[in-house]
Amino acid sequence: MAITLTVNGKKHEVAADPETPLLYVLRNDLKLKGARYGCGLGQCGACTVIIDGKAVQSCDVPASAATGKAITTIEGIARNGKLHPLQEAFISEQAAQCGYCATGIIMAAKALLDANPKATEGEIRTALKGNLCRCGTHQRILHAIQRAAKELRQ
Ligand code: FES
Ligand code: FES
Repeated sequence: MAITLTVNGKKHEVAADPETPLLYVLRNDLKLKGARYGCGLGQCGACTVIIDGKAVQSCDVPASAATGKAITTIEGIARNGKLHPLQEAFISEQAAQCGYCATGIIMAAKALLDANPKATEGEIRTALKGNLCRCGTHQRILHAIQRAAKELRQ
């Protein structure tokens, strides 16, 4: 069955079972590998994308549930060849070790800052509670998000 998805502003028609997790369609059909497969069970956040402004774990959503919605992946947040301030801040703060969690965390943080550019440390921590980092870079991640928030407010 054909499913139409709008990803990073572009419409795509893919032949997939409607129950296929959105993550699989993004990675396997659209070759967007930024959203990662961690647990596949909605428990780690590695697969986080933004759907209609909300951070969503794409392994836990059937692709058909995302039709007619605006899906944003990490590949869609740079503008005119310039990285998003969150991406810049993750580099500046060296907020990754293996980096496997980073794309999901950046997307969760982007959804938060888009809605609440003045997010407090507590609000950032709450927004990221579904995103795990096994390498323990939490402090650097927090600093990177605060740095990006400051940059975005200016
Ligand atoms: S891969 Fe989706 S939450 Fe872990
Ligand atoms: S940097 Fe390795 S899981 Fe977060």
